[in-house]
Amino acid sequence: MVKALKSKVAFVCQNCGYASAKWIGKCPDCSSWNSFVEEEVSARPGGRITANVCEPVVLHTVKYRKEDRASVGIAELDRVLGGGIVRGSVILVGGDPGIGKSTISLQISHQLAEIGKKVLYVSGEESVQQTKIRADRLYPKTSDNLYIVNATDIDCILEFIKKFLPDLVVIDSIQVVYTPALSSSAGSVSQVRECANILTQLAKQAGVSMLLIGHVTKEGTLAGPRVLEHIVDTVLYFEGERFSNYRVLRAIKNRFGSTNEIGVFEMGASGLAEVGNPSEIFLSERPKDVSGSVVVPIIEGSRPILVELQALATKANFGVTRRKAQGIDYNRLSLLVAVLEKRLSLKLFDKDIFVNVVGGMKIEDPAVDLGICLAIASSNYDKAIPFDAVVVGEVGLAAEVRSITNITLRINEASKLGFKKCILPRSNYQACKSQDTGGMELVPVDDLKSAFDNLWRGI
Ligand code: TYD
Ligand code: MG
Repeated sequence: MVKALKSKVAFVCQNCGYASAKWIGKCPDCSSWNSFVEEEVSARPGGRITANVCEPVVLHTVKYRKEDRASVGIAELDRVLGGGIVRGSVILVGGDPGIGKSTISLQISHQLAEIGKKVLYVSGEESVQQTKIRADRLYPKTSDNLYIVNATDIDCILEFIKKFLPDLVVIDSIQVVYTPALSSSAGSVSQVRECANILTQLAKQAGVSMLLIGHVTKEGTLAGPRVLEHIVDTVLYFEGERFSNYRVLRAIKNRFGSTNEIGVFEMGASGLAEVGNPSEIFLSERPKDVSGSVVVPIIEGSRPILVELQALATKANFGVTRRKAQGIDYNRLSLLVAVLEKRLSLKLFDKDIFVNVVGGMKIEDPAVDLGICLAIASSNYDKAIPFDAVVVGEVGLAAEVRSITNITLRINEASKLGFKKCILPRSNYQACKSQDTGGMELVPVDDLKSAFDNLWRGI
């Protein structure tokens, strides 16, 4: 990376922000081709954050004030944020177009305005009238503390902020904001980085919280600036399928709370409503006694959620097999199919296999492995898994079922929702067999074979 460029002009990779003094075809940092565009890099001397110079001190003598947090009043959102919005923090909200970024930002703005905070909503994408139409759908009347302005020039926005001194500023979106000091167009890496830097500095200096809305590219990363993720304090991503009403808000990074916390919302006629018990919703339409369906208790952040996994294994036509994974990693699916074929002699080589997580959740928890294997086998044998059973465990390459974390949390959630039987790794069983599991029958398994034997003995 070129650290101190003498000239003000540089070629900047539009994908990752790598700067070079001359044009290059392939980015040495992110390997993308033809992504370099000539840009003016830093025009204002104040554009860079200068480090505070201070003497080293003994760590335990350092004093600090507890963060000044404003609760948003929407429980799901407060959890994702780690208890509320910290004064002077910068939050980035990313997600596909139309997923609800502007809606949730307006809801946050309204909630904070209601408790007496001054909020400035800078709408660069929609006119003031359009935002009012949206607000009318959400609330009969918004508070006197909620201001809105249509602006994209960063200097104008800074003026407004200095004049109004709000507690929270929403920038919708960071990609349309530009500084006239740079010649590159709005949305380019240097524009976005520069504007985000200026806003972040102001946030820290003046104690104004910022909520920046960022667009996501087709590949699912924030358009252009991965660099943005380093600048801000908190990064939230909206997940969900376009045609499903459920939205999952996930904290990817959080300097003021734990990451991987999620909040579940439902998009309705009056905006995003929080879903207090996602397990119930995700299981509400589960078919009874149908093969290929299984329930897995997963852990998202600090809480357990029950999700339904569905698999379909059908004979492929013309000898070309298809494998599709929705909500789980495709490579994980391929690996587990290979384990099923090799270790359990399941004939899957001529089958199309589809696996889907109901409700549009994306699962990274390895505890879902056993569920995937059993759902595929269940569909393959056309034998249903008991309706009141949950399964949990990580599967290794030798088909062994490995232990997973937070077993008691998972079992308690399943028990709360009326499940009676849990198939789990033996090592987890040893740890929790003496605990109160709410009358749940625990079935320890060592490997896939013993799980199969328990469910479908004799097949
Ligand atoms: P929006 O917040 O504009 O998305 P983004 O800012 O991420 O692009 O969300 C727009 C979608 O949400 C749009 O398809 C309409 C829908 N919607 C509702 O269903 N109910 C509502 O109350 C609102 C405000 C929007
Ligand atoms: Mg929007």
